[in-house]
Amino acid sequence: MAEQIENFQPFAQITDARWYPRYHIAPPFGWCNDPNGMCFYKGQYHFFYQHYPYEPRWGPMHWGHVVSDDLAYWKHLPIALTPEEPYEAGGGCFSGSAIEKDGKLYLMYTGHLSATPEEEAAIGFAHIEFQCLASSEDGIHFEKSAKNPIIEEIEVADKDVSIHDIRDPKVWIHNGKYYAVLGSRTPDMAHGQILLFESKDLTKSWRCKAISARSDGTLGGMWECPNFAEIDGEDVLVFSPMDLPTDDGRFYFDKVAGVLIGKLNYRNGLFTHGDFQYLDKGFDFYAPQIMQTPDGRTVMIGWLDMWNVEMHETRDGWAGHMSIPRELHVKDGKIFSTPVPELQKLRKWKPITLKDVVIDEATTFDGVAGEACELVLTIDAAESKKFSIALRASDIEQTVLTYNSTGTFKFDRTNAGEPIGGFTSVREIQIEPQDKIKLHIFIDRSSVEVFINDGAEVMSARIYPKRTSQKIIFVPENELLEIDSLEFYKLDFGMPHPHLKDEASEDLKKKFPFLK
Ligand code: FRU
Repeated sequence: MAEQIENFQPFAQITDARWYPRYHIAPPFGWCNDPNGMCFYKGQYHFFYQHYPYEPRWGPMHWGHVVSDDLAYWKHLPIALTPEEPYEAGGGCFSGSAIEKDGKLYLMYTGHLSATPEEEAAIGFAHIEFQCLASSEDGIHFEKSAKNPIIEEIEVADKDVSIHDIRDPKVWIHNGKYYAVLGSRTPDMAHGQILLFESKDLTKSWRCKAISARSDGTLGGMWECPNFAEIDGEDVLVFSPMDLPTDDGRFYFDKVAGVLIGKLNYRNGLFTHGDFQYLDKGFDFYAPQIMQTPDGRTVMIGWLDMWNVEMHETRDGWAGHMSIPRELHVKDGKIFSTPVPELQKLRKWKPITLKDVVIDEATTFDGVAGEACELVLTIDAAESKKFSIALRASDIEQTVLTYNSTGTFKFDRTNAGEPIGGFTSVREIQIEPQDKIKLHIFIDRSSVEVFINDGAEVMSARIYPKRTSQKIIFVPENELLEIDSLEFYKLDFGMPHPHLKDEASEDLKKKFPFLK
């Protein structure tokens, strides 16, 4: 471990474990946003992220780096990319992806060159973006290409594309050629769009093949962080549109993450597709990145945060954390995401299981409580009609999930702890009503992720409760609540922090035995 964190420079020390995740990826200090460069290289999963190591706020972007043998246990590695070159001055090394070629690991990322206010007044724009490459023989130390930037603005100068916002390349290989999708917008900023680039060699020359997909006017003015993969025989474009219309009720946030499912025509570069589908209908899930596992599954990790909200962990010297890895599937034209089975490795303690329990008042079950745990439930919705489950609960706060058998599922973080802000603190979605509702819930120190009916819907949120708010309370809202089955697992430390003392103090453990 010591070796792996040789270059650690804890400019900002994490001062309190209360919200630092036990098993989600988070920066060892400072800030993180988008996932980057997720890949499997030389027998290990590599995951990079947008990182500002000096303070818990966004700043010139570095690439933080963690590594895992199994997608469950992660270790910090030294920072992979540091902004040092003229083509990335100011903004730094923006988001991108990774690919292996001839045994080397290549990172393809965006150099974000920003102007000072004085320069902006003189040149009339604030920033410009270029695509760059860095490579490594060992997956740890990276060298930027002497040919950077490998894609310049000239490549799209004759197209209906703003040269200022072209970013976040996701690169893949198809039939011996390299392809990359890039986030983009039209010059009038009215339409987000995806550009498809093509290269024979990856490292020397790239050509803009097409504007593959574009907003029809209802899907925002900029599309960020595109990803592309074939999943269950369908072509899937993952992206994060921004500037969405929140006033027509379709979107709760002006930025979300979702997919278009369709077909990419590699000859003309055009992507034909169906309607936009959310990847997560909760509060915090943005800029996800996907990768193929060696056994052919598509795995996604997103940034479990949202821009422009209160991130209370900044008080403790860090900011931002990732979602759990989720497996993507397409069934009948619909996207599903489920927790990767590898996470079961974190179930280090004996589970608590219950079967066929009927309750007629608010109930807690012995041992079913915690700040880092997993709950797998099947509830008889037809019999129960309406029920709530309060998570991270105490006398003073709770995060509440409520299901009504008409099919409404509500996630309420109004009283979850420290107030977060944003457009709303309650999100209500409509799900397909079924006699049995299945919930798979992951709780960590400052997050909740809820997978509904085998991943047909997902709702995730950051929350900032007191460390001691750990109850899980089941509440019948219509006479009876019938739980067909309940499995509860306390989860291990998957993302050990090098400096932080993670366990609760002896005093706290004495007073609250479930903290053990
Ligand atoms: C998305 C994003 C990306 C960009 C990065 C900068 O959250 O805006 O488009 O590359 O963040 O940190």
